[in-house]
Amino acid sequence: MTTRRVLVTGGAGFIGSTVADSVLADGWSVTVLDSLVTGKRAQVPAGASFVEADIRSKAAADCIRDGNFDVVCHLAAQIDVRKSVTDPAFDVDVNVGGSVNLMSAVHATGRKTRMIFASTGGAVYGDFVAPPNIETYPKDPESPYGIAKFATELYLAYYARVHKLDYIALRFANVYGPRQDPHGEAGVVAIFCQRIIDGKALTVFGDGGQTRDYVFVGDVARAHVLAAKRETIPAGRVDDRAFNLGTAKETSVVELAQILMKGAKKEVPLNHAEARAGEQRRSVVSIDKAKAGLGWAPEVSIEEGLRRTYDWFANR
Ligand SMILES: NC(=O)c1ccc[n+]([C@@H]2O[C@H](COP(=O)([O-])OP(=O)(O)OC[C@H]3O[C@@H](n4cnc5c(N)ncnc54)[C@H](O)[C@@H]3O)[C@@H](O)[C@H]2O)c1
Repeated sequence: MTTRRVLVTGGAGFIGSTVADSVLADGWSVTVLDSLVTGKRAQVPAGASFVEADIRSKAAADCIRDGNFDVVCHLAAQIDVRKSVTDPAFDVDVNVGGSVNLMSAVHATGRKTRMIFASTGGAVYGDFVAPPNIETYPKDPESPYGIAKFATELYLAYYARVHKLDYIALRFANVYGPRQDPHGEAGVVAIFCQRIIDGKALTVFGDGGQTRDYVFVGDVARAHVLAAKRETIPAGRVDDRAFNLGTAKETSVVELAQILMKGAKKEVPLNHAEARAGEQRRSVVSIDKAKAGLGWAPEVSIEEGLRRTYDWFANR
């Protein structure tokens, strides 16, 4: 069998570099494209080639034109939800503009390339529905970041219907694990790990009962390999090609702190600060569709995943 070729945008970042590791281990030829705005060159796996470029640039489009890629895993993004609130124009420029630049480059090749897009299951469904959130639930994002992610899915669905682009959108819940950054959607894990290591108190906003669906990065990376190999899904409605990736389990901030401290065998105080205005109370996704449609289910428990994450921060 000929080696298949994959481009991983954002492959110098937390999730993208783990995806690059997984596709390499599966025998693919891997190219990473990243502007290194937050990513680190050292995180690009040794077996991958590297292109330093912005996803909004002609250089990125040229990389796709010349790369003969079978799959483009698109993870490069402005990932900071709060930055999207203070500077929505920048967020839309990178997250929608950059993504459309890549789609249009893929379309221009005339080649059958599958795009796998890193969307969000934590920031698109909003607060009008009762979790667990199912792919077909209404989308009412509470941030410009969530709007840009869903807008990109709408562009992909348009390209699929009108231009026969092949794609799958993976809507990640809150992804945590080694290499993670404190600014991402599961940033609390990175912040708590560092504070426990430093022996400092953890700050919990409000009563700490707000829940999230924390999914381990290795499980998310494995889903990309499965999505890369799956049969094409016929073009239809935007949700038809979207799959939530999570655990379908809710963990509160207080529980998260307790599991981390137990794994670390170290106790620090928990301080409560004023609840943050507008913070979502519950967030958890249904993963039935990913189980049935991708043959995927998370394998790493939160206890195991948090222990591995803590160890990574402790040994950095
Ligand atoms: N972390 C989560 O919980 C989570 C949840 C849902 C979706 N996502 C999505 O997963 C993807 C990866 O997120 P992450 O947590 O690994 O973040 P990350 O910041 O570690 O990775 C993003 C990478 O994209 C690169 N990048 C940013 N802007 C770029 C640009 N204009 N051109 C080229 N490269 C650029 C950065 O240098 C970085 O390496 C993002 O699309 C993010 O929105 C993450």
